[in-house]
Amino acid sequence: MHAPVTGFLLSGLMHGMLCLARPSVRSPSICEIIGAALPGKVAYPDTAAYNTSNVRFSQRQDMEPTCIVLPASPEEVAKTLGLVTKNGSPFTVKGGGHTLFPEGSNIEDGVVIAMDSINDIRVSSDLSTVSVGAGARWINVAETTTPLGIAVVGGRSPNVGVSGFLLGGGLSFLTGRRGLGCDNVRNFQVALVSGKIVNANPVENRDLYWALRGGGGSSFGIVTRFDLEAYEQGDVWGRLTVWGPTETANVLSTFTRITREKLQSEDPDSHMMFGLTYAGGPNDPPIPAVYGFHLNLSSPYAPGSELDTMEGFTQLPGQVSNDTLVTNITGQIRTISKSGPGQRESWYATSVRDGVNSNGFMNDIINAFTAFADGLRSAAEARGTFIEPTMVFQTLANPSIKAMHRNGGNALGLKPGKFPSYIIQIPISWADPALDDMVETRSNQFINDLVAMANDRGFGNGYVYMNYAGKLQNVIASYGKKNQLKLRDIAHKYDPDGLLQNLWTGYFKP
Ligand SMILES: Cc1cc2nc3c(=O)[nH]c(=O)nc-3n(C[C@H](O)[C@H](O)[C@H](O)COP(=O)(O)OP(=O)(O)OC[C@H]3O[C@@H](n4cnc5c(N)ncnc54)[C@H](O)[C@@H]3O)c2cc1C
Ligand SMILES: *[C@@H]1O[C@H](CO)[C@@H](O)[C@H](O)[C@H]1NC(C)=O
Ligand SMILES: *[C@@H]1O[C@H](CO)[C@@H](O)[C@H](O)[C@H]1NC(C)=O
Ligand SMILES: *[C@@H]1O[C@H](CO)[C@@H](O)[C@H](O)[C@H]1NC(C)=O
Ligand SMILES: *[C@@H]1O[C@H](CO)[C@@H](O)[C@H](O)[C@H]1NC(C)=O
Repeated sequence: MHAPVTGFLLSGLMHGMLCLARPSVRSPSICEIIGAALPGKVAYPDTAAYNTSNVRFSQRQDMEPTCIVLPASPEEVAKTLGLVTKNGSPFTVKGGGHTLFPEGSNIEDGVVIAMDSINDIRVSSDLSTVSVGAGARWINVAETTTPLGIAVVGGRSPNVGVSGFLLGGGLSFLTGRRGLGCDNVRNFQVALVSGKIVNANPVENRDLYWALRGGGGSSFGIVTRFDLEAYEQGDVWGRLTVWGPTETANVLSTFTRITREKLQSEDPDSHMMFGLTYAGGPNDPPIPAVYGFHLNLSSPYAPGSELDTMEGFTQLPGQVSNDTLVTNITGQIRTISKSGPGQRESWYATSVRDGVNSNGFMNDIINAFTAFADGLRSAAEARGTFIEPTMVFQTLANPSIKAMHRNGGNALGLKPGKFPSYIIQIPISWADPALDDMVETRSNQFINDLVAMANDRGFGNGYVYMNYAGKLQNVIASYGKKNQLKLRDIAHKYDPDGLLQNLWTGYFKP
């Protein structure tokens, strides 16, 4: 149904006017219709409530929605979703607003349904489950769980929203042992297009439960609450080590060796990231760094213990600096957060599988990245502006992948294998909007080249991590044809008229 017969009536009734008898009166806008149904919950431009909610991590998401709806309960979310879909209004939903690309969770001419006011965090009395409202941020969750000696499989950056993180996957301190955040959701409470509020878990609406584990938010309904499994958790060991630029190949081969020898089978309490960053001057080469974590200080694999998983890095020459921090998860999150909202950012992603004699292939990835980054840096230099390309590897080893298969599995299509794989992420920050298109198209091309090279050499993996993906990437196709079609069927079942497909703009669809 298009345009606002329902809304017209509704608004007319609300205002006690005989609108129907006066056809010359303009029909109310979608924002007025929602405002009539949910008094006080619609914010318009140039008001404090609108300004406070319309903040995004990335400047590229700065836009001006027609209005922002701030529902305060699941029922109000369902009512809002019903009104925007019945009236054919384009909309999007904001969880924590951390998508980097334009329109990921904002919209220029349309409605934003912001989850800001739904941010309750409740811990069950036996400490086994943490129920989190869809507008909460990870730091709030950590601050609730840390004093209780528990943790959930959640974010590592303070203001990232729980919603987008959990619906796309969720790489956490706990991922080595527990899989992704989405694999540790016990129940999703979801407002559907039909107006119903349902639970999705391993018993009820199992298909929807499977789809929401990695299938992304914008195709099935609006999640209003996540019930998360909690685990006993004390202090976490963390260390950032940086080496000189000549050590890159050694650092990466040590990283892949430790992943193969320890993380793939023996030590699921470790988790590691390898990064290559251009933090220096315009002519300086990139420098390698490793961020390592360990969850159990009494494990024989803990740093300093007999089977120390990270020892290989300690012995590697050419170190420039190392910073070790042993603290609770709240403390780790606060330390990691360095950047706030501000400049322009983009991420692109792919993954590769390790294999026999992978060092040559890994070095070719480094060389390809350096050539790509140099191209961007010269283009930026020619315009007298800065750009900072980075490449990050994160391990996906068998214990993580096995944990993804609990409770019926997730939508990502990953299987355990002889060798671990690595999510490769290409974060780029810059300042000048004139570079936006160039960064998008070249990043996409670089990723396509990398995938072709990996397939060619027998290291192909295919999987694209939604939460690190760029706007031009076909994320859900990377889950495999079977899973893509299954996600389409499930979207169709819960939204038979394809209203979310057509009206919820800007993000990855099956
Ligand atoms: C600084 C920073 C650090 C990060 N760190 C990590 C990390 O450690 N690990 C990791 O895995 N990822 C990380 N990410 C990526 C992050 O997980 C994604 O950007 C994620 O989408 C953010 O969630 P959000 O709710 O803030 O996003 P939003 O931009 O608000 O939402 C993302 C998508 O989900 C939809 N959506 C939002 N709320 C709902 C809802 N309630 N129901 C249905 N759909 C909804 C939106 O419409 C949009 O399509 C980080 C990102 C940044 C910017
Ligand atoms: C809202 O933000 C706009 C644009 O930044 C600003 O001009 C305006 O004064 C703000 N209004 C309020 C009420 O905060
Ligand atoms: C967590 O660690 C921080 C220091 O990083 C400390 O200030 C805080 O008291 C700790 N919280 C708990 C509950 O132990
Ligand atoms: C930590 O490791 C020790 C030694 O292996 C083990 O006994 C203990 O159960 C582990 N703790 C947790 C929380 O896994
Ligand atoms: C950290 O750096 C210091 C000085 O730079 C060095 O002496 C020490 O061995 C390093 N520690 C580790 C664990 O790498």
